[in-house]
This record gives sequence, structure tokens and C-alpha cells, in this order.
Amino acid sequence: MFSLQTELIKITNLTAAEEPLSRAAAILRQGGLVVFPTETVYGLGGNGTDANAAKRIYAAKGRPSDNPLIIHVARPEDAEAYAVTHPLYYRLANAFMPGPLTVILPKRDTIPLSVTGGLDSVAVRCPAHPVANRLIELAGIPVAAPSANLSGKPSPTCAEDVIRDLSGRVDIILDGGDCEIGLESTIVKIEDDGLLLLRPGGITYDALCMVCERVRVADAVTHQLAANERPLSPGMKYRHYAPTAPLVLLSGEDNAVLRFLQTEQAARRCAILCYEEERAALQPNCLIPVGGREDLEQQARRLFHALRQADDTGAEIIYAHLPPLEGLGLALYNRMIRAAAHTVMQIRETGAQQ
Ligand code: TXA
Ligand code: MG
Repeated sequence: MFSLQTELIKITNLTAAEEPLSRAAAILRQGGLVVFPTETVYGLGGNGTDANAAKRIYAAKGRPSDNPLIIHVARPEDAEAYAVTHPLYYRLANAFMPGPLTVILPKRDTIPLSVTGGLDSVAVRCPAHPVANRLIELAGIPVAAPSANLSGKPSPTCAEDVIRDLSGRVDIILDGGDCEIGLESTIVKIEDDGLLLLRPGGITYDALCMVCERVRVADAVTHQLAANERPLSPGMKYRHYAPTAPLVLLSGEDNAVLRFLQTEQAARRCAILCYEEERAALQPNCLIPVGGREDLEQQARRLFHALRQADDTGAEIIYAHLPPLEGLGLALYNRMIRAAAHTVMQIRETGAQQ
């Protein structure tokens, strides 16, 4: 079914890339699919005003079509044509756009229901990555784009991971190197005069609070939805970012966790997403360093690729540290707790207890 000749274009210098970007923009306008880098993760773009392009996006990803797409614009004010904006939208735009923030707004008729999974709201984002921003500007259309992974895989943060998932399924892949943030955008919904945080990302809870007095964190950010609960954002109900081997998150005192990991390495084939500080004390095989203990930015940048690497080791189980809930930690926590299907092991001095 998928046998497209995917063209791979490496972009290192934006001014030298006008010709390929114009070509990619024309393909988007004509209903084709173009993968592009953003500051968060790579996006799988199509024409956001074209119901058929949306269908092609869902098919290429193998994604259920009730999970709505984000539309990407080159300037915050371009949202006017596709969504009913709000004064708070412009306060957010002034503070954080272009950047890793997505705002859910009431939809206008210019966006087909197939793009929003049948919802009467639409998610709008203005990416900061120069390749993404220039591509959208040249296309002159809103670019609908989910993360450029196969459904159920971690979002791709480098061209290598995109190629593995989507080669032969899209027309063009623009390789812009590694993504700077590494986790998908923060998603907020404007409700009354406050914000509901649906997905934490590079724009933290504290940063949102500087712009808006009332910011509420949706329960599903940190907790599992009950079987009968209706998700506020359709994406919340899917088991996302999931490696094939079970992922177990470890919580507890640093030395106790390290001793547990040493014992496990001796007992079974496990992959470990470890801190730099732990490296010397662990066996090197299947060890995947994700950054310094306190370096949440580096951990965010490396997480998704690390999960893919952990899977590639063929280990029977993957261990990682439970992140803190503060700052960028909340976004890491949200992604990791879902990848782990909420499996957290509390490590105590005397042994492990779940
Ligand atoms: O950083 C990002 O946001 C990346 C890059 C490519 O921009 N995109 C991305 O898209 O992560 P995706 O499709 O993988 O995730 C979009 C999330 C989904 O969980 C979806 O359910 C939610 O946004 N969403 C989209 N439209 C929505 C709406 N109208 N109401 C509530 N949630 C919505
Ligand atoms: Mg996604």
C-alpha cells in the first residue's frame, strides 16, 4: 500500500534551502505529505484545509482518525482564518510564540472536521524552528501535522528515527538535524478566563502562570484515566510512546536505586536509561545515558531516541528513573509514566516493592 519514492533532503543552511523548501511547500499545497523538523519533534505535514490530506496523514501514521491534528501557522495572527481567537491567545502568543506551545480554540469552517477528529475545536501552533516556519510561510496554508512517528512509537527527534518509521509513506523528509527540545509542545485549552494544561512540554506550568493567573493541570497529565472516563484530549486515551519491552520507572533514594540496578544487571538482560553520574558504577551493555541527574533539558532531548535504543537492545525489561514533577520534569513525567503504563517501583534499602 505504501510505496512512495520518499525524497530525503538535508538542510543545513536556510538561505541555501529556498529551492527545496519551495518544492516541499508546493507538494503540501497539492495534497502531498512532507516531514519537517520543529524545535519539539519532527512533524508529518499535510494541507490542513484538505480532508484528503488528513486521510493520508492518518494512513501514513497508522493512526486512529478520531485523534485530532495540530495545525501549524507561520505567525500567531494567521490563526484568525482557522480559529476563533481570544485575548488570552494573544497574551500567550506574545510570551511564547513562535515556540513550543499549542492552543486549543473554537474551530472555523475553513478547517474540515476530518482534521479535528470531528471536534468543533482546533489545536493551533506556531513553531519556532526556522525550517518549519519558512516551509509553512512558503506553503501559504495551515499545515496539519502530528508527530512523524508510526502510531504507538516514540515521537522522532532525529531524521534517522523518521526514516525508520515513514520512509516510503511520505513524499519528502526534510532532515534538519536533532530537535532542540525533544518532547512535543505544551497544549493548553482556554476555558473561561483561565487555562487548562492538557499536555506539558517545553513551556512549563510555571511559565504559563506568569501569563495567566488561573492554570489548572488536567488530571490525565499525571494520572491514569478510569475506564469509564472521557478524555479531554483524544490523545490522552492512547498508550503513546510505548517501547515493546515493558518499561519500569524507579523511585527511591539514589544509592538504593543504583544498588537495585546493579543487582538487576547481574540477574537479567535489562536496558537502563541512566544518569551520567551512574555510568561508571554500571555494566556498559544496554546502558543508555540520558544526561546528568539535574539536567532535565538534556533528558528531554534524549528521552524518545533513548526509548527506541532501549527497544533495539532486545532487553526483556527497561528501567528508567521516575522524573520529578517540577519544571520540565512534569513533561518528562507525563511521557514516561505513559510509556511505562504507570508502572512505578518504589525502591527501599532492603529490596524492591511495587
Ligand atoms: O510539538 C508538537 O506538538 C508536535 C509537532 C509536530 O508540532 N505535534 C504533535 O502532534 O505532537 P500529535 O498529533 O502527535 O499530538 C497532538 C495532540 C494529540 O494528543 C491530540 O489529541 C491533541 O493534540 N489535540 C489536537 N487537537 C485537539 C483538540 N481540538 N482538542 C483537544 N486535544 C487536541
Ligand atoms: Mg504524537
